[in-house]
Amino acid sequence: MKLQLLLLLAAAPAVALAQAGEATYKSVCASCHASGVANAPKLGDQKKWGPLIREGQAVLTAHGYVGIRGMPAKGGKPDLGVEDFADAVVFMVNQSGGKWPSPDAKILAAIRIEIEKREKAIAAKAKK
Ligand code: HEC
Repeated sequence: MKLQLLLLLAAAPAVALAQAGEATYKSVCASCHASGVANAPKLGDQKKWGPLIREGQAVLTAHGYVGIRGMPAKGGKPDLGVEDFADAVVFMVNQSGGKWPSPDAKILAAIRIEIEKREKAIAAKAKK
């Protein structure tokens, strides 16, 4: 009994994160990604998500967070944090043929580095 309780407690954070990703997806991302508005990769479309998934978790999450073409920065919700955004990406990826883990501190640090790189590259382009 005690052991089962411990196992349950250990599993809880991962489950909570997965649910948070789904909740963010539903409230922020689904408006475009459920139906493919403006050519947004649709949830579950493995053909579209395959090449994106191969970019890797840090790069893909960062590019989405900063915004790319029809994809608005932070999914159009300016107060959406990196962690919540990253969880929503994991939810979409894992519904579309990928198997990404909920971002831990190490993955989040890698995502933040990629965000900085991307923002610098965009700023440098804007100066030209
Ligand atoms: C206003 C519509 C819209 C909303 C809302 C939106 N997206 Fe997108 N998203 C797009 C479009 C359009 C693309 C395709 C961009 C392209 O490649 O031209 C895209 C692409 C992406 C990509 C792939 C980025 C890449 O590098 O090609 C990711 C990841 C992503 N969205 C995540 C999210 C997440 C997570 C949310 C919610 C927090 C979200 N999007 C909300 C329209 C939207």
